Amino acid sequence: MGPIYEKTATSPVNIAVIKYWGKRDSVLILPTNSSLSVTLSQENLQSKTTIRASPDFKKDRLWLNGVEEADVTKNKRLQNCLRETRRLRKEYEKKLCEEVGAENTIPLSEYNVHICSENNFPTAAGLASSASGFACLVYTLAQLYELPVSDTELSKIARQGSGSACRSLFGGFVAWEMGSQDDGSDSQAIQVAPKDHWPELEALICVVSDAKKGTSSTEGMQNTVATSPLIQHRIKHVVPERMKSMTEAILKRDFRKFAEITMRDSNQFHAVCLDTFPPIFYLNDVSRAIIRVITEYNSSNESGELKAAYTFDAGPNAVIYAPRENIPEIINIIAKYFPGDIDNGNEYFTDPYHLFSGN
Ligand code: PMV
Repeated sequence: MGPIYEKTATSPVNIAVIKYWGKRDSVLILPTNSSLSVTLSQENLQSKTTIRASPDFKKDRLWLNGVEEADVTKNKRLQNCLRETRRLRKEYEKKLCEEVGAENTIPLSEYNVHICSENNFPTAAGLASSASGFACLVYTLAQLYELPVSDTELSKIARQGSGSACRSLFGGFVAWEMGSQDDGSDSQAIQVAPKDHWPELEALICVVSDAKKGTSSTEGMQNTVATSPLIQHRIKHVVPERMKSMTEAILKRDFRKFAEITMRDSNQFHAVCLDTFPPIFYLNDVSRAIIRVITEYNSSNESGELKAAYTFDAGPNAVIYAPRENIPEIINIIAKYFPGDIDNGNEYFTDPYHLFSGN
């Protein structure tokens, strides 16, 4: 038996406030617009990955939530992430060989790996599990290989697993700059502000349904870009300005501006889904009821300040961003309008995953 090298790491989920929707290159995963997200730091919303490398392993193997994938060579996106991290390790080994000699350099890039990854939240619940999963895969490989590269550099690899994964390499507020190069060398994630820049901001997640989404994001984006005239307007005339305003709102901790852009961007994302032909519906009646409730809650505020912002990804589940002081009130309102005690679960909120609160 030869030696086994092992590393374990965890990665968080991120929820976009300016949505990524559309690819200009579907192999390198280059987006048609920049995007911006908040990384959620709840410990109950993470992917955890352990990777082992050994000269004795006969092939690369992957276990997802305890179930082994039949043939990892068919998982193209995983292959891309493995190939790119191995390439960087190879370069690093060359350097190590020059510095410390070949006898002191472990040829990890040549060993097969066993990857074991799990989410501590329901994978089927549409809670951005691919983002945390691929970010965790790339980060754990980078740790195992001791790669001397920045998280932004790693984000370009995670992007090739799942676009939104590039943003989960950072905590806090994170932008994915779309870049302009055809080789993807400038399509990367950067941190706009760390988590402790705005500690009062919290995210409340309402799991409306844990059913698997009908249209995958890959298929949905492709159809939207191919058929929607509205997406072209969004890409050219809406998102560039929004990225600037959102960055400003975050840097100034301006919740009014943050909330308005967040809700407008979620609305426009679902509008381009409806503008896709045939249309894509991710929201359901409960999602729309949540939009009404939050809109009403905001407009009942005498000071005119916004108190909460909703956003929805490619599924019916709501994420509500709000200053911490408003969270108890919001939970009460949700409980009131969606009957059945939220503590006991009900037809709308899947117990026990109905609400995650925290920033
Ligand atoms: O990274 P993907 O392919 O799972 O796409 C994510 C798309 C949205 O979640 C809808 C938006 C986003 O920016 O996260």
